[in-house]
Amino acid sequence: MRTEKIRELIARMTLEEKAGLCSGADFWHTKAVERLGIPATMVSDGPHGLRKQDEEGDHLGINDSIKAVCYPAASATAASFDPELIEKMGESLGEACQHEKLSVLLGPAVNIKRSPLCGRNFEYFSEDPYLTGVMATALIKGVQSKNVGTSIKHFALNNQEHRRMSSSSDCDERTIREIYFPAFEMAVKEAQPWTVMCSYNRINGVYASENPWLLTDVLRKEWGFEGYVMSDWGAVSKRPAGVAAGLDLEMPASGGVNDRKIVEAVKAGKLDEKLVDLCCERILNIVFRYQENAKPDTPWDKEAQHLQTADIAAECMVLLKNEGNILPLNKEDEIAFIGEFADKPRFQGGGSSHINCFRTTSALEASKGLKVTYARGYDVAADDAPDAMIAEAVAAAKKARAAVVFAGLPDSYESEGYDRTHMGMPESQNRLIEAVAEANPNTVVVLHNGSPVEMPWISKVKAVLEAYLGGQAVGLAEVKVLFGDVNPSGHLPETFPVKLEDNPSYLFYGGDPRGTEYREGIFVGYRYYDKKKMEVLFPFGHGLSYTEFEYTGLKLSADAMKDTDTVTATVTVKNTGKRTGKTVVQLYVGDKEGFENAIRPVRELKGFKKVELKPGESKEVSFILSKRSFAHWNTQIHDWYVESGDFSIEAGDSTANLPLKATVKVESTVRLPHHFDLDSIYMDILADPKGREVFGPMISKAFAVLGTEEEPTSEAAGEAISDEMSTAMLNYMPIRGALSFGGGIPEEQMAELLRRINE
Ligand code: BGC
Repeated sequence: MRTEKIRELIARMTLEEKAGLCSGADFWHTKAVERLGIPATMVSDGPHGLRKQDEEGDHLGINDSIKAVCYPAASATAASFDPELIEKMGESLGEACQHEKLSVLLGPAVNIKRSPLCGRNFEYFSEDPYLTGVMATALIKGVQSKNVGTSIKHFALNNQEHRRMSSSSDCDERTIREIYFPAFEMAVKEAQPWTVMCSYNRINGVYASENPWLLTDVLRKEWGFEGYVMSDWGAVSKRPAGVAAGLDLEMPASGGVNDRKIVEAVKAGKLDEKLVDLCCERILNIVFRYQENAKPDTPWDKEAQHLQTADIAAECMVLLKNEGNILPLNKEDEIAFIGEFADKPRFQGGGSSHINCFRTTSALEASKGLKVTYARGYDVAADDAPDAMIAEAVAAAKKARAAVVFAGLPDSYESEGYDRTHMGMPESQNRLIEAVAEANPNTVVVLHNGSPVEMPWISKVKAVLEAYLGGQAVGLAEVKVLFGDVNPSGHLPETFPVKLEDNPSYLFYGGDPRGTEYREGIFVGYRYYDKKKMEVLFPFGHGLSYTEFEYTGLKLSADAMKDTDTVTATVTVKNTGKRTGKTVVQLYVGDKEGFENAIRPVRELKGFKKVELKPGESKEVSFILSKRSFAHWNTQIHDWYVESGDFSIEAGDSTANLPLKATVKVESTVRLPHHFDLDSIYMDILADPKGREVFGPMISKAFAVLGTEEEPTSEAAGEAISDEMSTAMLNYMPIRGALSFGGGIPEEQMAELLRRINE
């Protein structure tokens, strides 16, 4: 419906009707205003399937929802590194929404995996903001191509479940911009989600649901978001403040309490009615957009989608280890499948994303016709592996050519609503793996988890396949990968640290009753491990294949550029093995300058591409890098800024395997505002072109006084003299020093020089 028509409708609504429209009718619907022909619309979880509740509603996955199709969770789909694939998944979800008359699917969830402990990590994509942004954008485009909306969530800094409805995420500006915002920003700018869901938590003390900086200044004014913002379920504290901040729709129904508060605030002159109108306009835009494009006769082919979930899951599996090429297994051999997850796989997490699957396929079921034997190995519900079960598993392993242990985290270990307290797998499963590995040297472990786990048995098993939470047909995908019908091509969207204590947020994660401090700043995930040169269990981006790839010939279209230009990096990748396979070419950028400039990570992911190659085939892959690829968030100008200097460009297939390296010199076109005074030090003045020009001669004189005859160079004045101490002393000296012992400059002359550079 055209904006003018919507505005006419709003003009005909009473204040009470308008305030009413700003909260849900019930758990899942927006309100109808029948006398004006405004329909109710339904929203539903999300993100990797439909949790449509026809009857009793809840936001924790307690009551039943309709039978639906459960796709792999975001932790898995991120590992595919394949946005085209995820866009197709989005299209299928969009069709299901049309069929089920849903206006908005509540997802994707794009919070950064800050700590392995977050209970909802399985629903989130990655520790890396760029990867998260690309995958979320693809999913949104897919769903919305079917004319139903998405709700990107949880905006923002919702990175723990502990005290999730009250905790304040206390984080500095630069970290918010570089780590926690970019996925939202990219998705809003490139895919324009119909709605955004604000998070439960506070950000630096202010609830997301009543945060004008977040919901209006950044989201709408900076990024150009056009849809409506809804609250997470129960995230509203002060409703009138929320309206003023830009929170359009409160979910679920507030029982009228908060609607009345809006009316009272308007009547008391505390809230401008125009802001209530604006909320209504944004909500109605989407309500009518859905209504005008509704196609309830869209078929929902669940059988076809079931198979699609298996195909997607197979693309997401990460082969972490494959000693002696034990995998793929031979279909002629007798293989022991061990562990309850072989029969009843864990393929989704608990809470609001929980799907009532119309069908599931376990690995055991999918291996019918093969020479597979089964032993339960452990009891998930009891979190136990009685001796008899272990003995049975050991006997099965001894008889088989290879043993595959299906292990991972039980539902109770990771779920919405609370965090893990450790990174370990159940002791029962660890014991089982050790026992099986001792009984059969060809032991393979298949993992089902949404976040990293410790692997005390890693050196004793031959192979590990990370299946994440792979959706309802995960078993089918596992059998295809284990027996080589599909060549694994997933790569890790996160680092697996050796132990929990290695994680950068470890000391502060969870926080105290008031809040949680993001003290590790921008050093999240590999940004931290790489900077610290730490040993990790498996690095970010890692993933093996049944074939081999060779990376050669990194070429840049230029070796110097301005920050307003772009540069193209081209890489050649060749399949040097014997099977067709896919690799993920990853491109990282790092600021090579030392600590004189902004402190930066060693490298950051700025491009990736999944490519399929036949044996002997090679392909060229290109990436375009622009200002944002080199920039950091500068808190002086509150904007993206590139520091002039050399940047490393590295390409390869994980942060630990980057065989190709090049350098590009980037020159900033932005001059940071400087104000120099007598307390400014020589080094900072020399770094500024104007400062260099004006103070150059005087500084040469000072160097002469300190014992060198040579002119200082611009970048590092000290390079010209041999005595490092003299250089350092001068570099770090405030220019007021020149008034006295640095050359005896008269005060008036100094004031004049300062005036000139501050002009
Ligand atoms: C979750 C959201 C979910 C909503 C509705 C909340 O508890 O945080 O992700 O969409 O419930 O079920």
